[in-house]
Amino acid sequence: MRPQACKKAQQDRLEIVNYLELDHREEMMRLVEQGLRAENKWLHCKYLYDQRGSELFDQICRAPEYYPTRTEKALLERHAREIMDFFALNGGDLVEMGSGSNHKIRRLLDQFSPRAGASLRYVPFDISQSALEEAARELLDIYPGLEVMGIVGDYTRHLDALPPGRKLVVFLGSTLGNFGEAQGLKLLKGVAEALNPRDRFVLGLDMVKPVEVLEAAYNDAQGVTASFIKNILAHLNRELGADFPLEHFEHHAFFNPARECMEMHLRARRDLRCRVADLELELSLDRGETIHVEIARKFTPQGAREMFRQAGLRPTRWFSDQRGWFSLVELAKAG
Ligand code: SAH
Ligand code: AVI
Repeated sequence: MRPQACKKAQQDRLEIVNYLELDHREEMMRLVEQGLRAENKWLHCKYLYDQRGSELFDQICRAPEYYPTRTEKALLERHAREIMDFFALNGGDLVEMGSGSNHKIRRLLDQFSPRAGASLRYVPFDISQSALEEAARELLDIYPGLEVMGIVGDYTRHLDALPPGRKLVVFLGSTLGNFGEAQGLKLLKGVAEALNPRDRFVLGLDMVKPVEVLEAAYNDAQGVTASFIKNILAHLNRELGADFPLEHFEHHAFFNPARECMEMHLRARRDLRCRVADLELELSLDRGETIHVEIARKFTPQGAREMFRQAGLRPTRWFSDQRGWFSLVELAKAG
């Protein structure tokens, strides 16, 4: 994107709407209680992303073992022009679900050259307010012609926040893989519903590959992934007055071949009694017992095609690297 001659001040080009103010805390209390009272304890992975969680995720992206980021970035670089052709003649919104920091979207924004009448608005949509605001402000500095409308929200609940007009939606990083099959399908159906017939949706998917590569990516030698997963407990300690002793938990990540996913658990190093004050909840964990925090599903081309069919989406282009490790699939509303 080329700087425009007439510059508007940053504050005039940035709007942020916050859908979390309403009931984020109630939702968190409900889900945390449900997860911690379950026979096999679990926590929803969206609570990994407070300010620290977003910072740690960025560090993961730089870990040598974490191949998804660099593989997807290379694909974006190679195909950015084709993807951004969407805005060649008409403007519209570039919506990014789970936007996080701005390192990927810049690959696309760099390919936009404004024409008369074709303006582009960037719409990041993220649960992490700090990450969203920081990324938005950096982008406004880099691209003086860009307008940004940030949506601070939860895409499992606030998909109706997606702008109704002409849009290209991107959902990168294989973040869809952090949902189970049914929840992932529900999310895709929601996106399909929000698309107009000519809109496009670009989805990043991490593909099944040798188990050693997968397990190394989620057990990096520097322990950043371990800190990222443990940070969910720090988030609950702060938000819900819990007293989880982080030092008495260890990160346990392994590939589950039956479900074709990585599973991330926190395992108690010893018998523990913990309390979540705001929920008036006491819980005990036996040594070795785990709290399931996250899955990262890995996809096959056939499985992904079937998922798109069920969601009411049809692939229009499919980009992949030589090894077939990652896919960027451009989709449209089916029918
Ligand atoms: N797209 C980036 C970041 C991926 S990390 C990349 O590919 O590198 C996942 C991002 O999704 C984080 O920024 C996190 O804050 C956001 N996120 C996770 N759950 C979310 C939810 N339920 N609603 C909205 N954003 C969510
Ligand atoms: C955001 N998401 C796609 C990452 C993944 O690979 O599933 C989150 C992550 N968890 C541990 N490492 C990275």
